[in-house]
Amino acid sequence: MIKQRRSIRRYQTKPVPKEIVQKVLEAATWAPSAHNSQPWQFIILEDRQIKRNLTEQMSEAWASDLANNNQSIDAKKRKEKTEQFTNAPVLILVCLTPEGLKKFSDKTQQSIERDLAIESLGACIQNLLLATHATGLGACWYCAPAFCKELVQKILKIPKSVEPHAFITLGYPDEVPTISPRKKESTYYFVNFWGNTTGQL
Ligand SMILES: Cc1cc2nc3c(=O)[nH]c(=O)nc-3n(C[C@H](O)[C@H](O)[C@H](O)COP(=O)(O)O)c2cc1C
Repeated sequence: MIKQRRSIRRYQTKPVPKEIVQKVLEAATWAPSAHNSQPWQFIILEDRQIKRNLTEQMSEAWASDLANNNQSIDAKKRKEKTEQFTNAPVLILVCLTPEGLKKFSDKTQQSIERDLAIESLGACIQNLLLATHATGLGACWYCAPAFCKELVQKILKIPKSVEPHAFITLGYPDEVPTISPRKKESTYYFVNFWGNTTGQL
């Protein structure tokens, strides 16, 4: 299951049954989280007009950010990206919520608590992707909302404390995805008590 899951970016127009959406979201919430903080919140977008309005404004913000850095993106590519989100039958916005997080007066500890919450969010999204794959549907994880959190909060009227982080698109696949290769070199090391590397896998 883990090896067969691929990012799917094109979907059939066939709607996704609500029970499936509920099932994959439930699977997401069974992910481990630091001190069981469960720092996630999901916003499910299915209405085409809402998806279009949100993603077109995000795309404009993206273009103007690029322009501020003397970069550009052509209009066709921008439209393609917006359509990927609009055409996905289900668009899930995954947010980081502060409820359940520990409060520290120490800045370093507070920043570590935030890191752990973001790691927990990653575990929850991976569960979501695998559960989606298990139902025969496809999904893709996009980081676009992380680049324009305030704009997304404003458009969707999300409280300031709830941070948009990722989009997950979901639907019946309309493409055979190419395999993204994995690193060939060894990434596993055995280390002894003194910190010396004793072997590789
Ligand atoms: C944090 C994160 C952000 C990602 N953002 C994007 C994105 O913005 N656009 C996109 O097309 N894919 C995005 N992806 C999907 C990756 O490109 C994909 O997982 C990777 O190429 C490996 O392919 P696979 O998922 O088919 O194994 C993202 C994945 C992760 C984990």
